[in-house]
Amino acid sequence: MGRASVCDGKSSIESRELLGLTAYIGRQSRGLPIAEASDPRLAPFIAAGRALFEGRQGQINMSCAQCHDDNWGKQLAGNIVPQGQPTGYPIYRLEWQGLGSLQRRLRGCIFGVRAQPYEFGAPELVELELYLMSRAKGMPIETPAVRP
Ligand code: HEC
Repeated sequence: MGRASVCDGKSSIESRELLGLTAYIGRQSRGLPIAEASDPRLAPFIAAGRALFEGRQGQINMSCAQCHDDNWGKQLAGNIVPQGQPTGYPIYRLEWQGLGSLQRRLRGCIFGVRAQPYEFGAPELVELELYLMSRAKGMPIETPAVRP
């Protein structure tokens, strides 16, 4: 249960065991619409996630929203820019040759704009996850999904 281990470099968040368990639990909701987080105490954290999503960052100085709200469907270096939905996680990604968490995916995009990615388990990543889930309200869960 060591809390520190969630934030350490090795990241227990990406352990085989935890990914397997999360995928198993997520699978139970497959096809169900994402419900809005109803606890009002979450509101400030969702708002913080939205601010992170909409704020520019990194040497490339772009926001998540500039790609995933304003330019989804367009080509970027051979990839189609998706809407950036969190519906399929943990996900099987061919590039990873295995299952990975939403936080791993987010760290990848943050790295992509040449910013310093937050550590696994960091509050900022949790806030982004919360915002992405509220943004995806009503969309069906597809866990475990597959992506290139
Ligand atoms: C320069 C454009 C760009 C920016 C900025 C960007 N992304 Fe992405 N994002 C992509 C592309 C392209 C993909 C999918 C292709 C790939 O696998 O790399 C992707 C994939 C994703 C996915 C996976 C969607 C799925 O269907 O599994 C999520 C979630 C996501 N991004 C969230 C974010 C967040 C949060 C930020 C800001 C911290 C961000 N992205 C910044 C281009 C961007």
